[in-house]
Amino acid sequence: MTKNVIVTGGAGYIGSHTVVELVESGFTPIIIDNFSNSKPETIDRIEKICKQKIKVYNINCINEDALIKTIQWNEIDGVIHFAAYKSVSESFKKKEDYFLNNINSTKILLKIMEKYNIQSFVFSSSCTVYGNTTKLPVTEKTELTKQSSPYGETKKICEDLIFSSALKNFTILRYFNPIGAHESSLIGEEPSKTPNNLVPLICECAIGKRKQLTVYGNNYDTKDGTCVRDYIHVCDVAQAHVHALKKMMNNNKYRKLFNIGLSKGITVLELINLFEKNNNIKINYDFGKRRDGDVEKIYADCSLAQTELNWGPKKTIAKALIDAWNWEKEKKSY
Ligand code: UD1
Repeated sequence: MTKNVIVTGGAGYIGSHTVVELVESGFTPIIIDNFSNSKPETIDRIEKICKQKIKVYNINCINEDALIKTIQWNEIDGVIHFAAYKSVSESFKKKEDYFLNNINSTKILLKIMEKYNIQSFVFSSSCTVYGNTTKLPVTEKTELTKQSSPYGETKKICEDLIFSSALKNFTILRYFNPIGAHESSLIGEEPSKTPNNLVPLICECAIGKRKQLTVYGNNYDTKDGTCVRDYIHVCDVAQAHVHALKKMMNNNKYRKLFNIGLSKGITVLELINLFEKNNNIKINYDFGKRRDGDVEKIYADCSLAQTELNWGPKKTIAKALIDAWNWEKEKKSY
């Protein structure tokens, strides 16, 4: 029988791609989203890709009563928790909101899952929990240093809450830098607030919505002075959730965490060059000051997810940048 999986933040960037992968793998996703940083139209487009209706509840994840009702109305086998505020820079200005929203929603979900005996939980964490680590590539055993932003702190606190919960099965996925869009160009990164992340901003420059991109800092200790990150296609990230769910549902006790990246570090300038080369378009950029909360370099060793979850990225950075640009061009007409 198909398994019902709640996806909080299922209309968001990684959430929407995960919903598609879940359907393709025979799960029944149930979206919980309050559309605070996503658009209701995304649901229609997910349904178009999946060729089926998806159940959606417009609920804030700190609304315990509404969450309980959803669980009582549907027989739930697992929960994937994406819904969270996720801007590093905004988190400095709205620290209290970030703590309240990100931590409380996780607390409430854990409490409800324990009470209603729902055992499989996937948590959307981030490489930001490693802080400004000097040991690269980062493995799951790499010691965490202080997180460089309140956003990062909330992710670390949530991870600790999950580890101290009574849940038999959970998987924490620490994503590196998800980029790109679904090949159909029906879903992609579409924040209702101004984007902060590099690839959406490159796309906005390419399409003429922005005059130029500011590269934050060119005096880091890297090969060209710009920050190094581990960019990975969002569909590969989405698939990791399906692998984690399957693993947990076949085990009685499975409490693990994994890095999810491509295991390859590239600089901001290299990424811009790849975008230009693969999409045959010039990006106008200049150099600005370093951005608060940015770490100099970080990239993953993801061999644990490969051996344990039998998961591995299938798409290249070039493919992700082509899909991102196609999405940018298509989304105008939605
Ligand atoms: C950070 C987190 C990541 C999290 C994401 C959520 C770290 C190491 N990573 O990603 O885990 O999922 O936030 O939003 O904390 N850049 C520019 N100009 C721009 C925008 C970005 O040069 O206009 C540069 C940044 O300085 C950075 C790189 O591009 O070096 C990537 O930035 P971004 O896409 O915002 O992601 P992270 O901050 O790495």
